[in-house]
Amino acid sequence: MALTLPPLPFDTNALEPHMSANTLAFHHDKHHAAYVTAYNNLTKDSPYATKPLEAVLLEVAGKADKTAIFNNGAQAWNHTFFWNCLAAGGGGKPQGKLAAKIDSDLGGYGKFAEVFKTAATTQFGSGWAWLVLDKGKLAVTKTANADTPLVYNQTALLTIDVWEHAYYLDFQNRRPDFVQSFLDHLANWRFAEQNFEKALQAKAAE
Ligand SMILES: [Fe+2]
Repeated sequence: MALTLPPLPFDTNALEPHMSANTLAFHHDKHHAAYVTAYNNLTKDSPYATKPLEAVLLEVAGKADKTAIFNNGAQAWNHTFFWNCLAAGGGGKPQGKLAAKIDSDLGGYGKFAEVFKTAATTQFGSGWAWLVLDKGKLAVTKTANADTPLVYNQTALLTIDVWEHAYYLDFQNRRPDFVQSFLDHLANWRFAEQNFEKALQAKAAE
């Protein structure tokens, strides 16, 4: 189905000084918008035009002749997810069931933060770092370029975009500082907790 660019779930200046309005305006209005437009152009008048984005991504993942559809569609999905992973006054530690799960599966928040930061800073070139639920267990992963946990049957809980366009205007080459700022000031744990709760409920309903 044709995609529409969702508005940011906050004002463009809401995350300052940790993520500038300038960064968000370029990132959302130019980069994310371009993925949406390209995906729509690539899929119009094709069988993909009537299918939900998630179904198309599962269908085209790994197919060499469908790389452009995958890349633009996955980037559209990843960015919509990423905006929800940001919040003014975010960062710090999660709460509730997700916090307990991080304790049991990942050795606590401190260990999680260390592993997440390593994943985000060592992703060579462009990509993403994720907290995912994989076969009932939490895991920290990284994906290159547009790649997304969706196609590995993992439930995304939280992500950070580590493409240079996500941080260069604010942090230049200092990706580690951007990642630390995300963990300390921006990470929307309420969103991650909701994603975890939904995954638990879906599992219980099986
Ligand atoms: Fe991005």
